Amino acid sequence: MKVKKAIIPAAGLGTRFLPATKAMPKEMLPIVDKPAIQYIVEEAINSGIEDIIIVTGKGKRAIEDHFDHSFELEQNLIEKGKYDLLDQVQKPSKMVDIHYIRQKEPKGLGHAVWCARKFIGDEPFAVLLGDDIIISEKPCLKQMIEQYERYNASILGVQMVGTKEVSRYGIVDGPVIRDRFYNVEGLIEKPDKDEAPSNLAIMGRYILNPKIFDILAMQGPGSGGEIQLTDAVAKLNQYEAVYAYDFEGIRYDVGEKMGFIQTTIELALQREDLKTELMDYLASVVDRQLIG
Ligand code: UTP
Repeated sequence: MKVKKAIIPAAGLGTRFLPATKAMPKEMLPIVDKPAIQYIVEEAINSGIEDIIIVTGKGKRAIEDHFDHSFELEQNLIEKGKYDLLDQVQKPSKMVDIHYIRQKEPKGLGHAVWCARKFIGDEPFAVLLGDDIIISEKPCLKQMIEQYERYNASILGVQMVGTKEVSRYGIVDGPVIRDRFYNVEGLIEKPDKDEAPSNLAIMGRYILNPKIFDILAMQGPGSGGEIQLTDAVAKLNQYEAVYAYDFEGIRYDVGEKMGFIQTTIELALQREDLKTELMDYLASVVDRQLIG
């Protein structure tokens, strides 16, 4: 069966970005001039996804507005002849069919995914987290869908992380069975670095079989008191094979402050209109720091 639907959970509290996220969704923080969630939606579309459901929560209206028309703004830009900007403003509302569902309480990522079960029905689906922006020649999700089509099994997008970082991720245990492809034998959410079975970390991209919803329906809270998707995938692995795919591409972590700053700089450096000026600026900052 083809993977045509994707869930983007965006109902978390974004506590690592407070106070910025008190009244604004973390997913709307701009990376240069585009909200983080737009990068994710674009990856989904470029991977062949036809329908997206965004799981929202309290204070997330700005996400819906961003992917909707803005009549007054568009009219104003037309009157001023600013057609380039008009194009940019209209793009998000024309991209794809986006649906919304509310998670009434932020009970965890597993619960957020479960909230979208009626929209997904009985077909395989993708989950993309907004904390991870992946820049690659072939979109990360497309790479994973190709693997899904080969194996018809749930696939987790993974990359190697440093030992100090394992406690921030879901970690996969299992042997490599061919280039970049692992058979998942165990999964553990945010392990201590001494307990981590490997350095293979789940990076916010999943293709899942719908059986996961039956498991999530019964799932109790795990690490951090939240209903964890990792725990449900570990359970799914007891019924059917789950694989992990070490996708190609550079992954930027925009879910925490330092990662957000690095992502902004890296992606700005990839922009022709900003690159030279930014390089000069960064060089001058470094000089100033060195001098004193
Ligand atoms: P995170 O734990 O990274 O996001 O969840 P958060 O909770 O918003 O951020 P912090 O840790 O408080 O700073 C990963 C993804 O899962 C979503 C988040 O929106 C994020 O995209 N999520 C998390 C939900 O949709 N619902 C939840 O109950 C928890």
